Amino acid sequence: MRVRAAVLEEFGAPLVVQEVELAEPRAGEVLVRLVACGVCHTDLYTASGADPSGYAPAVLGHEGAGVVERVGDGVRSLAAGDHVVTLFSPQCRECAHCLDPRTNLCLAIREQQNKGLLPDGTTRLSRDGDPIRHFMGTSTFAEHTVMPEIALAKVSPEAPLDRACLFACGLSTGLGAAINTAKVEPGSTCVVFGAGMVGLGAVAGCRLQGAERIVCVDLSAARLELARGQGATDLLQGGPDSVQEILEMTGGLGADYTFEATGSVGVMRQAVEAARMGWGLATICGVAGKGETLDIVPRFLITGRRVAGSSFGGVKGRDQVPQLVDRWLAGELDLEPFVSHRLTLDEVNRGFELMEAQDGIRSVIDF
Ligand SMILES: NC(=O)c1ccc[n+]([C@@H]2O[C@H](COP(=O)([O-])OP(=O)(O)OC[C@H]3O[C@@H](n4cnc5c(N)ncnc54)[C@H](O)[C@@H]3O)[C@@H](O)[C@H]2O)c1
Ligand SMILES: [Zn+2]
Ligand SMILES: [Zn+2]
Repeated sequence: MRVRAAVLEEFGAPLVVQEVELAEPRAGEVLVRLVACGVCHTDLYTASGADPSGYAPAVLGHEGAGVVERVGDGVRSLAAGDHVVTLFSPQCRECAHCLDPRTNLCLAIREQQNKGLLPDGTTRLSRDGDPIRHFMGTSTFAEHTVMPEIALAKVSPEAPLDRACLFACGLSTGLGAAINTAKVEPGSTCVVFGAGMVGLGAVAGCRLQGAERIVCVDLSAARLELARGQGATDLLQGGPDSVQEILEMTGGLGADYTFEATGSVGVMRQAVEAARMGWGLATICGVAGKGETLDIVPRFLITGRRVAGSSFGGVKGRDQVPQLVDRWLAGELDLEPFVSHRLTLDEVNRGFELMEAQDGIRSVIDF
């Protein structure tokens, strides 16, 4: 079939929206009609050429939600009409990591996905017979996409897909960092650095876990106000003195849990140093620039602070994304403040501009 899609033709140049060819789903694959897709930093990072593992031509996009149209041979967990959220982090339910509760890093299709290929080593996307690669195994800046069954979370048909798409990346990452990675305990004190989609998700996750105090740190006053709406009890303007200020707010000891959601290695260090002696846990969510390293004075670790990294919030996508969506439908989460702009597919580059200007939390493409 012919579908309109936003193609990364050349690094550093705007995406080109055009018609491309999408082949039928093969065994274990699913054809999805996209309804909505968020525009995320990772798309821009790859489009800019900064990502050393990027490839072109490729159809970008990874924060998709849509409806299953057809399934390939052997697909049993999904059928036409099902509502789905796309997963750049799949869950095969069979590999050593999927069978272990300690991680969500499914091993099944990593190698091919990193090359922009579907699990059988080929693409369904093409133009004039030449293959176009699948970005993050998702390629959701398109009217339709073909994806592996194991990379789709079946969500409640009640969930409006124009907001459910937020669960495909940043929101689940932040929520999961608090719920799965840190396992925040009721009554605890938390500090979240960064109030973008990931940080705001972490604030909401700390609230759902019953944290008593949630300090949110950001450079933007407008974003800190959004954090208050998600459950932050204290707001702090970020800067070089953040650690000192947090120590003063917490009786000199620091927080039980800190979260870094900025991508800055300097802030990661602050997150470690603002964690409490004895048991404080710093959870790192941000993606640092190529080659950057995190400096930690070992004394902070010897005296009981711990550091954890969190990819997609430790969320096992097919099991847990539907649960998170249900919590939203039950009224435990307010997603309205996160959708700042609604765009058409043709306006996808405007989504990048808005993100670079830090205008709003998420732009969502409506198909
Ligand atoms: N681990 C994962 O699976 C995963 C998934 C999605 C995104 N990410 C990463 O998470 C990070 C956050 O993503 P986002 O979409 O929320 O980004 P964002 O750019 O929307 O938000 C980052 C926030 O950090 C704030 N900030 C910058 N410097 C600061 C400082 N010194 N002190 C306090 N706040 C500061 C900014 O003002 C901004 O509000 C990025 O690095 C992104 O690549 C990771
Ligand atoms: Zn994303
Ligand atoms: Zn697996």
